[in-house]
Formats: sequence, structure tokens, C-alpha cells
Amino acid sequence: MSENRKAAITGHPVIHSRSPLVHGYWLKKHGIDGEYGRLDVPPGEAETFYRNFSASGLIGANITVPHKETAAAACDWLDDAAKTMGAANTIWLDEDGRLCGANTDWLGFLGNLDQLAPGWDVEPGTAVVLGAGGAARAVVFALLSRNFKAVHIVNRTIEKAQKIAGEFGSKTIAHGWDKLGELLGKADLLVNTTSLGMTGKQPLEIDLSPLPGTALVTDAVYAPLETDLLKQAAARGNPTVDGLGMLLHQAVPAFERWFSVRPQVDDELRGLIVKDLGG
Ligand code: ATR
Repeated sequence: MSENRKAAITGHPVIHSRSPLVHGYWLKKHGIDGEYGRLDVPPGEAETFYRNFSASGLIGANITVPHKETAAAACDWLDDAAKTMGAANTIWLDEDGRLCGANTDWLGFLGNLDQLAPGWDVEPGTAVVLGAGGAARAVVFALLSRNFKAVHIVNRTIEKAQKIAGEFGSKTIAHGWDKLGELLGKADLLVNTTSLGMTGKQPLEIDLSPLPGTALVTDAVYAPLETDLLKQAAARGNPTVDGLGMLLHQAVPAFERWFSVRPQVDDELRGLIVKDLGG
């Protein structure tokens, strides 16, 4: 029955989330009798909501800002990534009614690069990650899983970068923005996880001139799709990958978990979201 196969994006706010479009596309494509909606969970109600998730009528949910930590804390079981990051973006009830949680954001980052820049990690070297929020944590986790030798985190609030570096061990090193030029000179990969460059936010203004011409540049920001960072990198000949695939690929393991079909990130889906973004 369809009411037993309903999932949703939960968070606050959820009105702008593209996840219903993504999962809706796959449900239709695979002819699955299911639904994927939006459920706004006010901050004051989050703990109760996730602790009593079985009463929601949902088989599972995605979690977005600001509830990823609250959801993880409510889970009876967490996968390694969610445990390490202390944050879950995907939950489901197992056959015994236990609440299980996973973090698939890091898989979204890897899936995007694997699809659009195959071979990007053949010689894992030095990465520079801008920002030290939840997205940065997922990217650091992903890069260490692919054996990057050094992951430099550059952040305005250095304490936040230091906290992540402390959690992930000696390959992860924290810096302030003043070190960026020096770090770019030895980077094989540059990732922006700050909100700078997002529509309506301040621009990300950096001088890419020290960056080697072969370094891959990617942005977690996907609105706009072509950020100034990616435009600037492409103009000097660096390979670039936009951030939309991060959103699409993090959804793959969640959909598979709830609906038992592994969906594809295809051009039609990408086109659908690009159109929705106004591109
Ligand atoms: P998310 O969890 O999605 O990664 P977040 O926790 O809000 O989002 O993190 C946003 C990142 O953008 C942070 O690294 C933030 O830097 P601070 O930790 O110093 O706040 C960064 N950021 C946002 N606005 C910024 C600005 N004007 N200049 C520099 N960094 C900025």
C-alpha cells in the first residue's frame, strides 16, 4: 500500500529542497507505488519527531539543515560515516522498528566526481577544502576514503577547521584564509564547501593564479550551476565539476535503501533539476 512506502525530506526549512523532484523522478521511472514529500520539522520539535519516527507513517526520510545531528542522536544504529560525522542525512526503520541512520553526503561528493571526472583519484595527492561546516566534513571523509595524502581545510573561523582536523587525524590540516595562496600552489584538487558564491550570498573572491593548471576544481554550490569559482577555473584551463551531482548522488543510496532499487543519475534527471533551478 502506498501509505507504507512514503518518504520525505525533513528539516527547517524544506520548501526549497529539490529532493522531492529527484526521488519523484525515480519513483515514476521505476513504476514504484511510493511517495516522497516535504515535511517541515520546527527546531523545537525535532528531537521528539526523530525519537518517535515510527509514528510519522514514513518508511524513511532525508534530513537537511539544521536537524542532521539531532536525527543522528535519535538513531538506534548509525553507519560509520554518520557515526564519524555525528550527522545523519538518511534514516529508515528496520524490520524490528529500530531507527537506523546513514550519512550519504560523502558518497554524493564521490559519485559526482566519479561520474563527471573519471580517474580524478588515480593519484590521490593534496586537496584544499574551503569551509568547515557539515559539507566540508563530508568532503574530508570522502577524500580520506580515497587515500588523499593531505587534506588542507581553509576556513574563516580557524577553530572550526581545527576541530575537523582533530577529528580526522594527521592528514587533515587546518588553516586560515591567509595561507590559501601557498596551499593552492601544491593542490591537485580544490573544493569549495562554503556558501560563498551561492545565489544571494557574497561572492567567493580568490586568486587562482598559484593553482597548477591540471588541478580539478569543484564546488558544492549548485545554484548557480556555474559559480564564479568554476568560471574562473575553466577560463584558465583547469578541469571543473559543478556541485549538482553531489545532491543527485547523495540521494541514490537513500532511494535504494527505502525502495530496493538502485537508481541512476542520468542526463534527463540532471536536465530536470537544471530547469527547476532556472538554468
Ligand atoms: P554547511 O553545513 O552546509 O557546510 P555551514 O555550517 O553554514 O554550512 O558552513 C558554511 C561555511 O561557509 C563555513 O565554513 C563558513 O565559515 P565560518 O565557519 O567562518 O562561518 C563559510 N562562510 C560563510 N560565509 C562566509 C564569509 N562571508 N566569508 C568566509 N567564509 C564564509
